[in-house]
Amino acid sequence: MIVLGLIGRPDVPLCHDAAACLVVNGTVIGALEQERVSRRRHAQGEGPEDAVRTLLSAHGVHPAEIQAIGYAWQDAPAGSRSVDGPVPCGVYVSDKLTDTIFPTLSVELGTREIFFFDHHLCHAAQAYCLNPYATADILVADGWGGDGSTSLFHAHNGMFRLLERFDRCWSLGMLYGAASAYAKQGWWGAGKLMGLSSYGRRSNFHYMTFDPASGEFALNSSLRGVEPNGLNWDRLGAQWLEIFENNVFPFTSTSANTFDYAPFAADVQATIEELGLGLAARLRRLSGEETLLLSGGVALNATMNGRIARESGYRNVAGTVAPNDGGTVFGAAMLAQSILGKPVQPLPEDCDPPIFFGPHVANAAIEAALTKWSASAHKMESDKLRKEIAATLARGKVVAWFDGSNEFGPRALGARSLLAAPTSRCVLDKVNRVKGRQPWRPAALSLTAEGFAALDMEPVVNGLTEYMLCTHRVGDSGMQKAIAGIHVDGTSRAQYVPPRLQGFSALLEAVGEETGLPAVINTSLNTRGNPMVLTADQAIELMNEAPEIDMLVMPPYIVQRS
Ligand SMILES: [Fe+2]
Repeated sequence: MIVLGLIGRPDVPLCHDAAACLVVNGTVIGALEQERVSRRRHAQGEGPEDAVRTLLSAHGVHPAEIQAIGYAWQDAPAGSRSVDGPVPCGVYVSDKLTDTIFPTLSVELGTREIFFFDHHLCHAAQAYCLNPYATADILVADGWGGDGSTSLFHAHNGMFRLLERFDRCWSLGMLYGAASAYAKQGWWGAGKLMGLSSYGRRSNFHYMTFDPASGEFALNSSLRGVEPNGLNWDRLGAQWLEIFENNVFPFTSTSANTFDYAPFAADVQATIEELGLGLAARLRRLSGEETLLLSGGVALNATMNGRIARESGYRNVAGTVAPNDGGTVFGAAMLAQSILGKPVQPLPEDCDPPIFFGPHVANAAIEAALTKWSASAHKMESDKLRKEIAATLARGKVVAWFDGSNEFGPRALGARSLLAAPTSRCVLDKVNRVKGRQPWRPAALSLTAEGFAALDMEPVVNGLTEYMLCTHRVGDSGMQKAIAGIHVDGTSRAQYVPPRLQGFSALLEAVGEETGLPAVINTSLNTRGNPMVLTADQAIELMNEAPEIDMLVMPPYIVQRS
């Protein structure tokens, strides 16, 4: 059974994060974001056709072989019919959008029925199918998803129940997005605002509250100039900006000094953390379950996740490689498959974290790219290559690391990364220059279990730390050892790299042998405003554009800057 999961409409201007996922006989064999192919960040207003073509070609699947298509938004056109079956929240099917979503591929694909699923259900199903728990609660929080902004699900043996859903006006994602815009970090700047929040002191003021007992949200009653009942979705973003202008310092979004907004960012971050804890408490009250899965764009907030993992009382708290909208394609594919009779299944317990869903990169493709750019490269045996990289990092150099199938999702997790040793702050400055980022932006650490121990860090949270979805406090003895990967508040958004993680684990071990600390600072392989690199061709182009990069590694090749 071959099934596609999709999100993204070329005819809907606000649509973003288009992506596709290919499932064969219940197993995800590939997934890819459209932006990696089209080279437009977030692929706003794009459909997923290029990503689908790339996946089908990489896996030798002809469009005619696809048996079902699931779409991760309940976006069915007029005249579609509803489908009865094991999937909650309403399912609709229509064959009227094939030409729209696949402007050119529809010739080979033919006119196809597409199943349209509830967006938050797709978020929930992706969290379920990429984790090893047969029974779990699932908290979905994002900007908005159809008729709600936050949904509480329970899943058991592949069957999902929606326990509660909260109105769009209480959107955690919108609160954070508007706060980011207000603090001059842009509507997509949630990650930047989170970084900025560490520089501010929290005042214990929460913009929004949630009561786990009653399940009710409320605006802080001291906020001036707004009426909670006046909130409506169409104007929600503008209303939040108005709230901030009326109530927070600085009273405009035009201050030239980013750090003026740090106390504000700290309070917004504290608000999100308390809301996340409250929602987790609500879900636990409703179900009594021991496992909580986190999904939706808000689940990219690593500090909130860390607090939920440590304070909510759930025994297991896990996320996935892509809790954001792109990740809904996993859920859409699995739900489409369940309509055909094969229920959504969790992963086996002992499997490695599912991260690298991109197309395989053959040596021939690397060699073709080297020839195209007339780049001189050395082909090296694996051990020697890793030692060479480790020695280069130890000298304070910046290494572009391009290894195998790319990771899905917004984080660089060991396939498309800019790497540097974490021992010197100067190198972080150099990395930030490659990325065109502000010098105050922190970098994440990637490290093995030995690295966590060497830095005396808070323990790994299985299911979160593998995906850089959790912050960890670093012990006093570790602070100077990895100063470039530790934020001003003494935490690190760290990635735990388990054994056998593509080529990344072995590289970190080599770094440990060279420096005594199996850790690197790790940020995505891209330049400002561009998506992460997908192909070897793009990696060489990026190196040519960024003189701060000292070495590009595409195993088995090392490209030295001449
Ligand atoms: Fe979403």
